[in-house]
Amino acid sequence: MAPIHIDETSGSDTTGKGTPDQPYQTLGVALFNHGASESFLTRKDSTAAYEEPTQSSLKKAKKTAEGIEKKRKKQEELAERDAKEKGEERERKEKLLEESKKIVLEEDATLPKATKAKITHLAELRSKRIRVCGWVHRLRQQKDIIFVVLRDGTGYLQTVLSGKVASTYEALTLNLESSIEVVGMLQAVPEGKTAPGGHELIVDYWKVLGSAPGADDAFTNRLNEKSDPSIQADLRHLVLRGETASSVLRLRAYLMAAFREAMTFHSIMEVTPPCLVQTQVEGGATLFKLDYYGQNAFLTQSSQLYLETCLPSLGDVFCVQESFRAENSHTRRHLSEYTHMEAELAFITFDDLMDNIENIICKTVDILLTNPTSAALIKQLNPKFEPPARPFLRLSYVDAIKWLNEHGIQLPAEDAEGNAIKDERGQIKMVDHKVGDDIAEAAERQMTDIIGTPVFLHGFPAELKAFYMKKIPGGDGKMSFTESCDLLMPNVGEIVGGSMRIADMAELLAAYKREGIDPEPYYWFTDQRKYGTCEHGGYGLGVERFLAWLADRYTVRECSLYPRWPGRATP
Ligand code: 4AD
Repeated sequence: MAPIHIDETSGSDTTGKGTPDQPYQTLGVALFNHGASESFLTRKDSTAAYEEPTQSSLKKAKKTAEGIEKKRKKQEELAERDAKEKGEERERKEKLLEESKKIVLEEDATLPKATKAKITHLAELRSKRIRVCGWVHRLRQQKDIIFVVLRDGTGYLQTVLSGKVASTYEALTLNLESSIEVVGMLQAVPEGKTAPGGHELIVDYWKVLGSAPGADDAFTNRLNEKSDPSIQADLRHLVLRGETASSVLRLRAYLMAAFREAMTFHSIMEVTPPCLVQTQVEGGATLFKLDYYGQNAFLTQSSQLYLETCLPSLGDVFCVQESFRAENSHTRRHLSEYTHMEAELAFITFDDLMDNIENIICKTVDILLTNPTSAALIKQLNPKFEPPARPFLRLSYVDAIKWLNEHGIQLPAEDAEGNAIKDERGQIKMVDHKVGDDIAEAAERQMTDIIGTPVFLHGFPAELKAFYMKKIPGGDGKMSFTESCDLLMPNVGEIVGGSMRIADMAELLAAYKREGIDPEPYYWFTDQRKYGTCEHGGYGLGVERFLAWLADRYTVRECSLYPRWPGRATP
């Protein structure tokens, strides 16, 4: 029989086989693997010759081999015991499960009648018997007690199931996101313990209304914090069940109500303009076109033109309406469909317009901070939130260009065709801003973040703005500027765009012509200048952008129920 080789330097006890090519490293392991009847050859390293081991090293190795054998046996025993215990546990569970099927829960008719309530209204029902329906938000079993945190959209409630109610088949097979009905006494949580609302429900009767799967199809297997963004987008309907997403949407609801309250406070009346339109407002490039009974129509970009027509009948008006922009923008502040809060005010000056924007925003924030529920949501989502200091800074476009240059914020140089110019190293050449340049999103964001407070940027060049904007009277004749403003907020950038509108008929007709717009479909808009024109202006606020600022969200996508962006219209 071939001897077993051991090389104490290059051998290996894990991959070695005992051959001259694959020697072991230690005699002990070689002995353990092959038994004492084999012959062995050992060497210190490859420079030495193989020799038979000495008696004393054989003796030492034998001890090592015995030690290894002992350890192996112990592990084997442990594994056996473990398997047995697991088997017993499985059997116990199966038996329990089988027995649980026999347990039938029935509501005890002798107990006080339970009041059905939403979780948000439970404070006044302490120490009473109540009935609540909701979804299993969290589930924890501690010995024979099951703790369920129930969610009903209005809040969270800790419920405690013990004894018979925790032993039914439904209790033992309950999964997250099942919908259930629970009945029991509402009690303050014991001293030193915490729970949402400071109380917990001691359940005496409950039932599953709609079960949710466990195992592979369990909710947490379909979606968790680590899920890829595209999966999260596909599963937005499930993401919404999460605490943060639902808090953002809840705050959004309070925000919409606060806007409406602020508008009403300022005597501005709500109207609902159409989404299907045949006129553009903010340029043809971002219109979604559709076939409308054989005619061309668009999804509205802004309800502004319709609001203007309401001034002579309803006075100052506002709307909360979806606007649609076919922009191929994948930035964190662009959506293809967004909620647009627009207002239009008659007989005002440009300063009145900016005052109104500031008033509405500050009033809205005040309302939200006064209401304890919305104030708590803001605190939860954006703990550092402070209402903005007034008055908001007003910076003219021309001064903003100067500011950018003084702060070294540049833009890519372009040739006459609008292509970026590169330097010798192939890097895009950056140049200072000049009057007439559009202030790009990145520059605007840098500026707002450095200034750190809301900023009204006003007086943009007419060439950069929409056809309807009123020009600033006078000027040097070289370039005309408009009575327009953008309100920029730290972290988000532009949240409001507004302007004074052309009130003069001839000026409006000239503007259509300059922009190559056919005046025919705008007859109703033009008529406003014919029948008693007035100086007027208005603005549009992006609700998702405002919410991103308020709730400190990274992207407007988190601030929309089902956000749409290029390529995404599902779910
Ligand atoms: O600056 P914009 O395009 O102005 C108008 O549409 C005017 N007609 C409004 C008016 O005067 N009645 O858009 C106004 C606001 C922006 O400041 C921004 O908050 C939001 O609408 N907005 C968008 N929000 C999300 N995604 C987009 N693609 C947006 N485009 C504009």
